Amino acid sequence: MNNPEVAREYHRATMHDPSGLRPDDPRLVRDYRPLQWDRKPPQFKTYPGLESILLPDDISLSPSKGLSVDALGRLLFLSAGVVRTADLAGDTLYFRAAGSAGNLSPIEVYVLTGDVPGLAAGVYHYEPVEHALVRLRPAPGDTPPALILTGVPWRTAWKYRERGFRHLYWDAGTMLAQMLAVADEAALAARVQVGFVDEAVAALLGADGVHEVALAVVPFAGTFILPEPEDVPSGHLADDPLEFPLITLAQRAGHLATDQDVESWRRAATTLGGERPYSTARALRRPLDEVIRGRGSSRQFHPGLTAPNELLGGAMDWATRPVEGDFVIDGATLLDHYLAVHAVDGVEPGAYHWRAGELEQLRAGDVRGAASHLCLDQALGGNSAYTAFHCARLEDVLAPLGSRGYRAANLEAGIVEGRLHLFAYDRGLGATGLTFYDREVPRFFGSEADPLLVTAVGAPAHAPTSGGLPRRPVRLRRT
Ligand SMILES: Cc1cc2nc3c(=O)[nH]c(=O)nc-3n(C[C@H](O)[C@H](O)[C@H](O)COP(=O)(O)O)c2cc1C
Repeated sequence: MNNPEVAREYHRATMHDPSGLRPDDPRLVRDYRPLQWDRKPPQFKTYPGLESILLPDDISLSPSKGLSVDALGRLLFLSAGVVRTADLAGDTLYFRAAGSAGNLSPIEVYVLTGDVPGLAAGVYHYEPVEHALVRLRPAPGDTPPALILTGVPWRTAWKYRERGFRHLYWDAGTMLAQMLAVADEAALAARVQVGFVDEAVAALLGADGVHEVALAVVPFAGTFILPEPEDVPSGHLADDPLEFPLITLAQRAGHLATDQDVESWRRAATTLGGERPYSTARALRRPLDEVIRGRGSSRQFHPGLTAPNELLGGAMDWATRPVEGDFVIDGATLLDHYLAVHAVDGVEPGAYHWRAGELEQLRAGDVRGAASHLCLDQALGGNSAYTAFHCARLEDVLAPLGSRGYRAANLEAGIVEGRLHLFAYDRGLGATGLTFYDREVPRFFGSEADPLLVTAVGAPAHAPTSGGLPRRPVRLRRT
C-alpha cells in the first residue's frame, strides 16, 4: 500500500507528447476511442426513488455563526451548484460554479453532519440541479460536520482516458478553491484532509472504490470522525461505466488502510514542503457570490491588452499561499511555479520562476509561441497576459508520501488554479486551466520540477455570461 513506484509509472504512462504517441505501457487501454457521444456518462450521480430536501434558494451570506442550512446551501452552490445550462443536440448540458476540464465535472459532494438546525444528523449527497440534499443514512447528533469529495473516473476518462485520474484531483482542487474561500468568509475553519482510511470513507458513502473513489475530506471543526458502518444506497453513476485499470491501480496504490497508516502518513507529511512567506491581506474585493457567478473560463484572450501588475504579483501571492491541510506542515506548500509572462504592466516579457513570492527572471523575450506550444499547442497559453505552470519536484513528494503524495500535489495544483481564477474574475479579468506537454515544460524553464497543471490569466476577448441562482441557472444560447 502507498507504494511510490506506481505513481511514478502512472505519471510517465499518462504524459502528453507532441508526437501524439502514447507511452508503451501494457496497462493502458488500447481499444477505446475517446468522446463517443452515445456512451457519454451522465453528468451527475442520482438516487432514483429517494426523497430530496431542497436547500434555500437564497444564497446570501448568512449572518449566523457556524454551519447553518443557509451556510451549507451557499457553500455547496458556490462550489458545486449548476449556474448555467446549454442545449446540446436535444440534451441539457450543465455548467457548474467551479470549472472542470472538458466541463465533465467528475466530482460528487457529500455532507456529513451532526445536528444542524433544520437538518437531521446524517450523511447526505448534494444534488446540484435541484440544489438539494438526499439523506443516505443517519449519523450521531454529535458528529463533527465535514464535506467529502469523491471522483467518478469514467466521467472524465470518457474524454481523457487514463490521464483522467489526474483530472479528478485537478477538478477537485478547482472546486475546493471556491469551497475554501466561501468557508473562510463564513469563518468555518475548513481544512483539507488527503489522509483518511479509503475503504472506510468509501463505505460511508456507498462508493465502490472503482467507479467512484474518495478524494478529499474537508472537516470544519478540526476533526473528522467516521460514524459506525451502516448500509447506504449506492445510487446511479452510469449504465455501462468503463474501468481503466491503470486509474484503479493509481488510486489504490495510495490507499491508507488503518488509522495508524493515516497517522504515519501525516507525520511524514510534516517533514516536507517548502516554507512560503505570504500576505494574509484579504485579496478579493467584490462579494464572493458575484465573483463566482461571474466566472467562466476564458475561451479566448485579448493579446493586445496589458494586464495591471497586481494581476500577476497580487494574484500569484494569494493563489499560491499554503493550503491548510494535512499533506504539508502549516505554512508550507508542495508546489513550485514557473511563469511565461507576455503582457503585464512593469514586467518584462519572458520566462520566470516564482520563488518564495518573488519573480526571478530566467530569460527575457517574447515567449508567446513557446508558451502556447507547451500548453498542447493551445493559443490560450500564448495570448494570455501570463501563463503559470504549477509544478512539483515529484521525487521529493513521492519518496516520503508514496503514491498518496501524488494525489496531494495534484490537488494542491488544482486549488492554486482555482484561486487564480477567483482573483482574476474579482478584478474583471479572466483565466482558464490548461493542460500541457509534460517533458517540454521543464526543458523550457530549465527546471527539474514536473508540471502538474497550468493556468493562463489575462483579458478575455468576451466576458462570460453571468451565472444564475439555485434552480434558476442561466440558459446559454450557444456553447
Ligand atoms: C483542471 C482544468 C483543466 C482545463 N484544461 C483546459 C484546456 O486544456 N483547454 C481549455 O480550453 N480549457 C480547459 N479548461 C477549462 C474547461 O474547459 C472549463 O472549465 C469548462 O468547459 C467549464 O466551463 P466554465 O469554466 O466556463 O464553467 C480546464 C479547466 C480545468 C478546471
